[in-house]
Amino acid sequence: MKAEILKILKKEKDYVSGQELCESLGVSRTAVWKAIRQLEEQGYVIEAVRNKGYRLVEEADVLTVAELHSVLDTKWLGKELEYYYETDSTNNRARDAAEKGASHGFLAVADCQTAGKGRRGRVWNSPHGTDIYMSFVLRPTFTPSQASMLTLVAGMAVVKGVQKATGLSAMIKWPNDAVVNGKKICGILTEMSTEEDAIRYVVPGIGINVNTESFPPEISDTATSLKLSLGHELKRAPLIGAVLKSFEQYYSRFMEYGDMTGLMDEYNEMLANRKRQVRVLDPHGSYEGMALGIDKEGCLLVKREDDSVSAVISGEVSVRGIYGYV
Ligand code: BTN
Repeated sequence: MKAEILKILKKEKDYVSGQELCESLGVSRTAVWKAIRQLEEQGYVIEAVRNKGYRLVEEADVLTVAELHSVLDTKWLGKELEYYYETDSTNNRARDAAEKGASHGFLAVADCQTAGKGRRGRVWNSPHGTDIYMSFVLRPTFTPSQASMLTLVAGMAVVKGVQKATGLSAMIKWPNDAVVNGKKICGILTEMSTEEDAIRYVVPGIGINVNTESFPPEISDTATSLKLSLGHELKRAPLIGAVLKSFEQYYSRFMEYGDMTGLMDEYNEMLANRKRQVRVLDPHGSYEGMALGIDKEGCLLVKREDDSVSAVISGEVSVRGIYGYV
């Protein structure tokens, strides 16, 4: 019921009478009043005026189930969702849920992670109340090798969501880091469970630096947050809504071909490394070249000094900018 009240108050922006709320929700005035009180306790500022009704004066920066349902405008992603005030890792929650049969689109969101996982075994710093930590369950019917491209699809969704929610010109550092002004604002860790050559489920886990004010010295040169880029704080839930809506749209285009064919051009437009000199850190020998864009398998095409073009597979190597992080 709180999600419905929030939806109505957010849409209306003006006073909504208690009577109207009761009628649309089919509940008593006392039930509405109690729900409003609970929302106020969570940090929403709601004005109540006799003979006029309720008006949402200020939204709260919370990620409760009601808040998330009130911002999600998706068809299947996040219809089933869980929120944790604190958990070890939302990837673990989504995987547990998938093991217990959670459906395609199940979403896990946390306010804080005590053991946030980064790529290559690194730790993802995940304090309370500042950033976005979320993971979801996908049950695609294609092969495990195609699933690695879903990380690129998630990267596109973050970039588009950030652009829509903030107006910032976010871009992608191949394969899937979202960057603003050349610094990382998001990391994606995709985990998968397979059986023979079939996918049981895929869990993309997305961490977005929203309101972080400072970073540890070892990453302060390469990481930033949306708050630092915008100069003001940002509410997290609407950004989650924008990212997940974009993910659904990109995912359905991905599914048309089962690869990046339908997304390649848009991905390449978002690519911060495009036409830049990069160093490819290949365990079989590093080399430099000009990043051209991705191919339909999501490989980064790099033109080397001898004019040959190498297709770099994500996950096997990493790519660094020669003149900075990108
Ligand atoms: C990276 O190293 O760039 C990937 C970081 C991924 C972090 C996110 S936060 C939500 C989800 N849960 C985790 O434990 N990790 C991912």
